[in-house]
Amino acid sequence: ILSEAADELGVDCYVIGGFVRDYFLQRGNPKDIDVVAVGSGIELAKKVTQKLSGNPKISIFKNFGTAMIKYGDMELEFVGARKESYDRNSRKPVVENGTLQEDQERRDFTINALALSLSSKNFGDLLDPFDGIGDLENKIIRTPLEPGITYSDDPLRMMRAIRFATQLDFIIELKSLQAITENKDRIQIVSKERIVDELHKIIASKKPSIGLSLLHKTGLLDYILPELTALEGIEEVEGQRHKDNFWHTLEVVDNISKTTDNLWLRWAALLHDIGKAPTKKFHKKIGWTFHAHEFVGSKMVFKLFKRLRLPLNDKMKYVQKLVLMSSRPIVLAEEFATDSAVRRLIFDAGDYVDDLMTLCEADITTKNTKKQKKYKNN
Ligand code: CTP
Repeated sequence: ILSEAADELGVDCYVIGGFVRDYFLQRGNPKDIDVVAVGSGIELAKKVTQKLSGNPKISIFKNFGTAMIKYGDMELEFVGARKESYDRNSRKPVVENGTLQEDQERRDFTINALALSLSSKNFGDLLDPFDGIGDLENKIIRTPLEPGITYSDDPLRMMRAIRFATQLDFIIELKSLQAITENKDRIQIVSKERIVDELHKIIASKKPSIGLSLLHKTGLLDYILPELTALEGIEEVEGQRHKDNFWHTLEVVDNISKTTDNLWLRWAALLHDIGKAPTKKFHKKIGWTFHAHEFVGSKMVFKLFKRLRLPLNDKMKYVQKLVLMSSRPIVLAEEFATDSAVRRLIFDAGDYVDDLMTLCEADITTKNTKKQKKYKNN
């Protein structure tokens, strides 16, 4: 239908972006299809709507020169090929009509700039001017233009690079990593909602530590979750050291991700030790302590959710509750809860007890101290 509609209008048209990338990666069942017309994307979308049966819903965004058709559970996005230029203080580009090649150049990564022709004269031809296929094979995230330009034009792409590297288990090319590090402060012009969308995708990945450590390495994490980077480092006083709670946290998040897809339980794992930075003290007699860090941590969860515009609803309360209880391995002794103090703790944990157990297990597998082992073996 797309091909027929494009031929009738006499415009060249291509499917581009995530659909093509995921097609070559044989990944999932893509529901979003991005279509580029070398001409008017809106006219092409209108023509396609006429040809589709079952009354599809079309939305036209005149100001952006784009249109979207909802068809069953699929979303088809139409845009005219364009070149873009950016103002330094905004993610909103100045747009002009352009060629397919110019449209491919304005895209974030070579693997997202692959285009498959839909016009009947060369149906199915792959247009890949930046060797995106080579990068798919070599598992590399690379930008079509100089990385400094791509990331400075649209700083959200710094998060996207790290998100794709995490989801696909790809390497970000060195030049790109350097450009992200240099442009890290420009993340401040990106809306919190967009940043959090990408962060959620990183946390929901198979191995979130890939993205979290890249966010840390590039310095982006200092802007997004400074509560976490404050946990990094090991101090030594009178020969006594504490563990590095930042790297420990990343291990806990990976451990928990092996057993659950629950996004908010993963968030709880990520935040379970944040109270340790402000409560850290050294006592001559007992060594390092983080007294009441659970209480401080659960209060910090509220501030952090507010700052990142995360929902301040039952999801937040759930994370708070897990953070508050997470450092009490005693709940692991549930089955042996004979004394009233233990029963009281289990009662407090209430509906959260299963998730709390999962969190404690994920933590214990990285702690391995004698005391923890004792609880586990009991
Ligand atoms: N794109 C871009 N820069 C951005 C966002 C998007 O160049 N900041 C381009 C890329 O070519 C991308 C396409 O627009 O492939 C569609 O973007 P989007 O739907 O956000 O992402 P997908 O690549 O489709 O991947 P996913 O669905 O996994 O987010």
